[in-house]
Amino acid sequence: MKEMQMIKIITIIGARPQFIKAATISRAIKDVENVHEIIVHTGQHYDDNMSAIFFEEMDIPKPHYNLGIGGGNHGEQTGEMLIGIEKVILDEKPSLVIVYGDTNSTIAGALASTKLHIPVVHVEAGLRSFNKKMPEEVNRILTDHISDTLFTPTNTAVENLKKEGIASDKIHQVGDVMYDASLFYKEKAESNSKIIEKLDLTGTDFILATVHRAENTDDRKRLCRILSELDELAKKINIVLPLHPRTKQKKEEFKIRTKNITFIDPIGYIDMVMLEKTCKMIITDSGGIQKEAFFHQKPCITLRPETEWIELVESGCNFLWTEELNLMDLYDELVIKKLNLSHNFYGKGNAAKLIIDQIIKTY
Ligand code: UD1
Ligand code: UDP
Repeated sequence: MKEMQMIKIITIIGARPQFIKAATISRAIKDVENVHEIIVHTGQHYDDNMSAIFFEEMDIPKPHYNLGIGGGNHGEQTGEMLIGIEKVILDEKPSLVIVYGDTNSTIAGALASTKLHIPVVHVEAGLRSFNKKMPEEVNRILTDHISDTLFTPTNTAVENLKKEGIASDKIHQVGDVMYDASLFYKEKAESNSKIIEKLDLTGTDFILATVHRAENTDDRKRLCRILSELDELAKKINIVLPLHPRTKQKKEEFKIRTKNITFIDPIGYIDMVMLEKTCKMIITDSGGIQKEAFFHQKPCITLRPETEWIELVESGCNFLWTEELNLMDLYDELVIKKLNLSHNFYGKGNAAKLIIDQIIKTY
C-alpha cells in the first residue's frame, strides 16, 4: 500500500484577528492524520490581552516560533518579518504556508514563501475596500496575486478575484472561518464569561463599540470627532469600548477627554462574544466585528465610508457612517428598525474543514 505523505504546514499569524481565524484551522488539523502544523507568530501583537489570551482560551497550539517583531513603521515592521519568516521557511522546508487576512504579517509571510517557491495559501482572500490608502487593501491585493490557493469567505470575494484575472481553479469558496469560530464559541461564552456581571451590565441596554483603524485613529480631528459623538451618545445609552492599544496611544497623544464612555482594556474572545450577544447595537471600524454583529443578530454602524463586507450593507444590516452623518441620528434611526437577518452570506460554519480537505487534495 502507498504510504500517506505528510503535509507540513507553516501558519503565519501575528495580529489579534488572525489568532481567531487560525484557531479554527488548527482545530480542523487535529482531526486529520497526515498534516503537521508549525505556527509562526510574528509578534505583531504582543500584549497578553492582544495575544496570549487567545492561545489560552481558544486552545491554539503554542507557537513554535515567536519572531518578536511588534511596533515600528510599515516598512520596518514588514521588512523585519520578511527576514525572520524566510529563515524559518528555509529551516523547516514546509509543503506550504498559510497566511490569513490582510495585515503586515500576511504580506510578509506570503512574500517570503513565494520567493522561496513554497506554495502560499491565503485564507480570507478576495476582499476589497477599493481604498488603497488603507494599508490592509495593499496587503490584500498583493497577497492574493502571489497566492497559489485562495480561500474566499463570500461570493463577492470570488467575483473580485475573477475581475482581477486570478485563475478560477485557484479560488475556493468555502465560507468564513470567523463564522465557524462564532458558532463554536457561542455556548462557551454563555457558560464561561463573567463580563456582564463584571461591568455591572446585567439587565442594562448597552452599545459595544471598537475603534482601531489607522485612518480613524491617526488623524486628530477624526478621532476627536468619533470619540466626542460616541461620548454624546453615551449620555443616552451605555457604551462599552474595549480600547485597542493604537487608539489608547493616540487618545493620550491628542489629549482627547471623554466623560461618558466606559473604556475597558482589550478582552479575550469569550468575553467579546458575550458582549456581542448581549448588546443592543455595535458601532465599530473592525472588519471582524462587523460580521460578528450579523452573526449575533445585532445592528451595526461601521465607522468607515466603505467596507469589504458589502453584502451586510446591501441587505440593510450594516450602516456606513460618513462625515455628514451624526451618530446619534443614526442610532435613533437604527434602533427602531426591523433588520432582515435571515440571509446566509458566510457559509455553513464548516469553512475550516473545507479548507483542510482542499489542502490535502491539492498538496
Ligand atoms: C493591525 C493590522 C490591522 C488589523 C489590526 C487588528 C496592519 C497594517 N494592520 O493594526 O489590519 O485590523 O492589527 O487589531 O497590519 N500595540 C501595542 N500592543 C500590542 C499590539 C500593538 O502596544 O499588543 C501598539 C503597537 O506598538 C503599535 C500600535 O499598537 O504602535 C499599532 O499596532 P500594529 O500591529 O502596527 O497595527 P494595528 O493598528 O494593531
Ligand atoms: N476582539 C476581541 N477582543 C477585543 C476586541 C476584538 O476578542 O477586545 C475580537 C473580535 O471579536 C473579532 C476580532 O477580535 O473576532 C477582530 O479584531 P480587530 O477588530 O482587532 O481586527 P480586524 O477584524 O478589524 O482586522
